[in-house]
Amino acid sequence: MTVKLGLVGTGTVGGGCIDILQNHRDDFKRHYGIDVELVRVCSRNPEQAIAHGVEDIFTQDFHDILNDPDIDIVIELIGGTTVARDIVVGALRAGKNVVTANKALMATHGEEVMTAADEAGKEIAFEASVGGGIPIIDPLKHSLIANEISSVMGIVNGTTNYMLTRMAEDDMPYADVLAEAQAKGFAEADPTADVDGLDAAAKIAILASIAFNSRVTLGDVYAEGIRNITPLDLQIAKDMGYCVKLLAHAHRTAEGVDVRVHPTMLPLSHQLATVNGVFNAIYVVGDAVGETMFFGEGAGAGAAASAVMGDVLEIARHVQQGIGPIVGCTCTDKLPLVPMEE
Ligand code: HSE
Repeated sequence: MTVKLGLVGTGTVGGGCIDILQNHRDDFKRHYGIDVELVRVCSRNPEQAIAHGVEDIFTQDFHDILNDPDIDIVIELIGGTTVARDIVVGALRAGKNVVTANKALMATHGEEVMTAADEAGKEIAFEASVGGGIPIIDPLKHSLIANEISSVMGIVNGTTNYMLTRMAEDDMPYADVLAEAQAKGFAEADPTADVDGLDAAAKIAILASIAFNSRVTLGDVYAEGIRNITPLDLQIAKDMGYCVKLLAHAHRTAEGVDVRVHPTMLPLSHQLATVNGVFNAIYVVGDAVGETMFFGEGAGAGAAASAVMGDVLEIARHVQQGIGPIVGCTCTDKLPLVPMEE
C-alpha cells in the first residue's frame, strides 16, 4: 500500500523534507519496501510551494489535509503553539498519525498532544524537536529504556553554540555573529528564543520528560541565555583553561528532577568543550549503559528534515504493517521536579 502524506509548512525544514522525498522516494520503496507519497502541501506562501515544484498539490487551508480521508500521516512544520496546536491535535483526532519538529508545542502542550494520540490510537513523533538531525528521542524511548537515567546534559541550541564559537575563535561581536547565524538559517524566526535560552529550555523539557518519566514543561525550566556574554569573557575563560557553553541540564536528585539552562564554564579537556559551531551534543548517563554521547548537526534544513523523515518512514512502515502505537503516555508514577531557584 502507498502511505499518503500531508505536509504543513514549506519553510526551511518543510523544504528539506520535500527535497528528500523528491530525491529518495524510489529508494525508500526499493530498499525498505516503504512506499510514501506526498499528496498535499499546505503553506501560507505559494512562492515556496512553486519553488519546490509542489504547486499542483498546494493548498492554503490546513483543513484540506485534516479532512482528506486518504492521508495517513500529517507532518506539521509551521512551529508556534497556536495554529500548530490546532493542526496537530486536530489531525490526531481526525485519526491521522502526526510527525512534528515543534519543540515549543511539545514542551508546552505535550501532555494534551500525547493524550490526543493515545485516545485516537495514533502515533505522534517528534525526533526533530531536539538536536536537529541527532537521534536522541528515539534512543531515550527505546534503546535506553532499560536504564535508570541519572543525567541528560548537553548543547542543544545550534545558534548559540555557533555564536559562542565565532565570538571565542574569531573575536566577533555579538550582533555580527547573531546576524550570521540568522543568515545561515539556524536561528529561530525570533532569535530571542535562541539567545535567551528558551529554545534550549523547551528541548531539555522534552528530553527530561522522556528520560525521567516526568512531566516537565517549558515554564518549569530556569533559563538564562548568552546575551551578556562578550568576546572578552570568552577570552578570559580560555586563558584560564575553560570555554563557555550554553548547557541544558537535567539531573536526577533525591528531591526529583533538576532541570535548567545556563552558560556553563567547561574545562577545555571536557568532551563537550570540543563541540563547536552549529553542532549539538547530548550526554546521557544510565545505570546500565554508563556514559553515552550523541553528536551531530543541531540545526539547519538537512539535519532537521533527516529527523522528520526518519519519523515519517518509521510510522509509514507501521501503517503498512498494521502496527499501532508502541509508546504512549500511560505512565502514572511521574518523578517530581526540583523547584526553580530565583
Ligand atoms: N534555532 C534552533 C537552534 C534550531 O539553533 O538550535 C533547531 O532547533
